[in-house]
Amino acid sequence: MRSEFRSRLLEAANHFGTPLYAYDWVVIQSQLERIRVAFGDAKIFYAMKANPNLGILKRLNALDVGFEAVSGGEFERALLSGARADQIVLNGPGKLDLDYVRAGEVGANIILDAVDEFARVARFAPGSQVLIRVNPGLQVSTHDHLATGNASSKFGVRLEDVPNAVRLAEKSGLKVIGLHMHIGSSIEDPHDYADALERMAELAKIIGAREVFDMGGGFGLEFDLVPLAKLAREAAASFGAKELWLEPGRWLVAQAGVLLTQVLGRKQTERNFAVVDAGMSELIRPMLYGAVHGVESLDGTGNLETLDIAGPACESGDILARDVRLPEPKVGDLLAVLNAGAYAGSMASNYLTRSRPAEVMLENNQFVQLRRRDTLQEMLRAELEPLD
Ligand code: LLP
Repeated sequence: MRSEFRSRLLEAANHFGTPLYAYDWVVIQSQLERIRVAFGDAKIFYAMKANPNLGILKRLNALDVGFEAVSGGEFERALLSGARADQIVLNGPGKLDLDYVRAGEVGANIILDAVDEFARVARFAPGSQVLIRVNPGLQVSTHDHLATGNASSKFGVRLEDVPNAVRLAEKSGLKVIGLHMHIGSSIEDPHDYADALERMAELAKIIGAREVFDMGGGFGLEFDLVPLAKLAREAAASFGAKELWLEPGRWLVAQAGVLLTQVLGRKQTERNFAVVDAGMSELIRPMLYGAVHGVESLDGTGNLETLDIAGPACESGDILARDVRLPEPKVGDLLAVLNAGAYAGSMASNYLTRSRPAEVMLENNQFVQLRRRDTLQEMLRAELEPLD
């Protein structure tokens, strides 16, 4: 966390209330710059599932970033943020007929995730530019829920089926501009990409030259992108591809965000807890993937203590972090949960009829509100208004 950002968080919490997602625009910009330096002129399609806030999308699009969208809703967000057709890829293993129609009207790129998907695309978005998502069939180094390039996952077309997928798509009038892969998220070992890229390059010999090679996202936050970019360019070259496409999500936004939460109380069972006003409904990653998020105290004083940070839900799994060392947290103290710029707000829910928090961003030294907190009225409207 940048010290300029950290020093403003108490003020943000006082002004906007907690729980609160606070983002640092400087960090998003510098992560983008790091990708651009490593990958040169590769085209970036930000995987907006990481954080689809329109304020972030608009700012990224102004910097010439495109989007990967996996639902009709995400597709409309891409358009609202100003993206051109060529800056959008529609992806996902279960697209709806209407999604194809919209992508076809706009002229966006569509990723085929299955051999027989060509038929629906040809019907609802005839003549579209498509890429085939390939499942390289590898064991990758991440949590099971986040691995997508392994042979048993539901994603993509098996290597041996790719030539047929290309042939069928072309026969139905689609333009197969290239191949796509995405091996998983929070990948820990960069060698996983080397293995996948090698398998992709093998395909080049069979299906011939294509304009585009899309290597997806999933980059671990600690990766050195420079050697990875070199491998990706080599794989792209083996396809005769003029363009390398990337779909980073977490890499761009995770470290730019914190979830601010206030201590509601202390308690002791066999373990030592601080109960806070944010939990699984604001950050589900620890519960869902065993993800570890650091926690810092913003105003705590006193001796260091080891404790668990527990959310307010009536579920034993609602623990944001275990065994953290903090200056003795007291009621009202403010904590920052780190790396909450990705897959925190975007996966937040109204579970327990809790309002999704506001989102704010520090930009030019000022906090701008990008989303306000849900009101009770908004949460109940769809049930109280006449139902038919
Ligand atoms: N491209 C495709 C086709 C994807 O499915 C994803 C993520 C990305 C790009 C971006 O991956 P990233 O760079 O963000 O790792 N909710 C989980 C992450 C699920 C990611 C799903 N697909 C989490 O909280 O870690």
